[in-house]
Amino acid sequence: MAEQTRRIGLSLGADICWPICYEALIKELDLAIPMGKDTLKFEVERVNIEPFDLQQPCKYDVVIDRLTHWYHTSREWIKKSIVMNDLYVFNNPWSLQSMEKHTTYAAMMRLGFPVPRTWMVPPKSYAESADLQPTLKRYAKLFNLGDIGDKIGYPLFMKPYDGGAWVGVTAIKNRKALEDAYDDSGTRVMHLQAGVIPFDGFVRCIGLGPQWRCVNYDPDAPLHNRYRMEENFLSAEEEQRLKDFTLVINAFFGWDFNSCESLLSKGEWHPIDFANACPDSQVTSLHYHFPWLIKANIRWSVFCAATKRRPNTDLNWREYFDIADKDIPFNDKLAQYVKIARKRFDIDEFEAFCDEHLGHLDAVADKYFATDAVKAAIREKVEALYPEHEFDEFTDLFWSRIQSWREFEKSA
Ligand SMILES: Nc1ncnc2c1ncn2[C@@H]1O[C@H](COP(=O)(O)OP(=O)(O)O)[C@@H](O)[C@H]1O
Ligand SMILES: [Mg+2]
Repeated sequence: MAEQTRRIGLSLGADICWPICYEALIKELDLAIPMGKDTLKFEVERVNIEPFDLQQPCKYDVVIDRLTHWYHTSREWIKKSIVMNDLYVFNNPWSLQSMEKHTTYAAMMRLGFPVPRTWMVPPKSYAESADLQPTLKRYAKLFNLGDIGDKIGYPLFMKPYDGGAWVGVTAIKNRKALEDAYDDSGTRVMHLQAGVIPFDGFVRCIGLGPQWRCVNYDPDAPLHNRYRMEENFLSAEEEQRLKDFTLVINAFFGWDFNSCESLLSKGEWHPIDFANACPDSQVTSLHYHFPWLIKANIRWSVFCAATKRRPNTDLNWREYFDIADKDIPFNDKLAQYVKIARKRFDIDEFEAFCDEHLGHLDAVADKYFATDAVKAAIREKVEALYPEHEFDEFTDLFWSRIQSWREFEKSA
């Protein structure tokens, strides 16, 4: 029997708290997983930024990437490592790079998801370029923005077609406000989207591989209270629906880690934002839910590394579109999409793997999340975000919420 090492790389930017906890917990787990005639050990390492030969080998089996949506040298290293070395990465860099919010809206509309009605409009202004004026003179047709607003109805949202982090998002109540917001929108290409307002529920469903957590979300609260802590706030049916949405979206686009925002109106959940390259992972926003994320990340990354999971080389959308084009109700289509998505995530194999090899994770995590090391990791993150006079208060707050999570897990 030979010992083999599987290597997990963390491609990080400003992350502080979650990698500390992820690395420590992997160590605590002390995995020795039998695989055929071998025993697998696991090492975690942070990926450095350095020049690279396109032909050089890659020492990692899996990379968890939090950086490359804006840091392009590392993104290209990841892309070469997938193409040349079969590296498995959360998330697929091509899919992220090319699939803005816009494509995800269009694709999910085609599958029949109740995405609110959405228009795209050309930008208000442009950076000058050689071909700009002849192109606009010939082809840009004057349009009446107010008429489009009236068609969509108010309230509506103007937001960048490739948006993130709430930048450039405006709630618009009438024609005049629409014209003003457009005048202020500059060179960004914007969507106008029917507002799901008022809404009866707002959920962020976090998907990590084939694992999900629905969190009650309050967009109007201060950052530390947006992720609410209620357990079991959805009916079993609603929870299943939101998990199914997230599963299908992530399988469709080849994403391992994403969070899907949906709003409830008149008994129907409407997905409004589901293309997040770098979902919230900080203890300062997730607090109570933070340990879930660390555990889910460990399960999926260890599974992918242990089984040498192959990266997707194509997304094969036709399989979904063939279902979308059938003359059957959306719920029946969704059930068929879920079947494909379950296969793409190898859910049965994953669950059997966790049962067999990661049965001690819950107990080890419970013990770990009661340690001073976790409190220190929280403090480090708090110190990076808050003014000095709030260091103690917020460290204690997030710590106490994690302890509440431990209590709940024990009682459940
Ligand atoms: N169609 C909509 N109906 C109601 N609220 C919306 C809608 N679109 C956006 N919002 C509100 O604006 C916020 C930011 O919009 P979102 O599409 O999530 O952009 P981002 O990608 O920047 O997070 C949402 O969290 C929600 O509160
Ligand atoms: Mg959002």
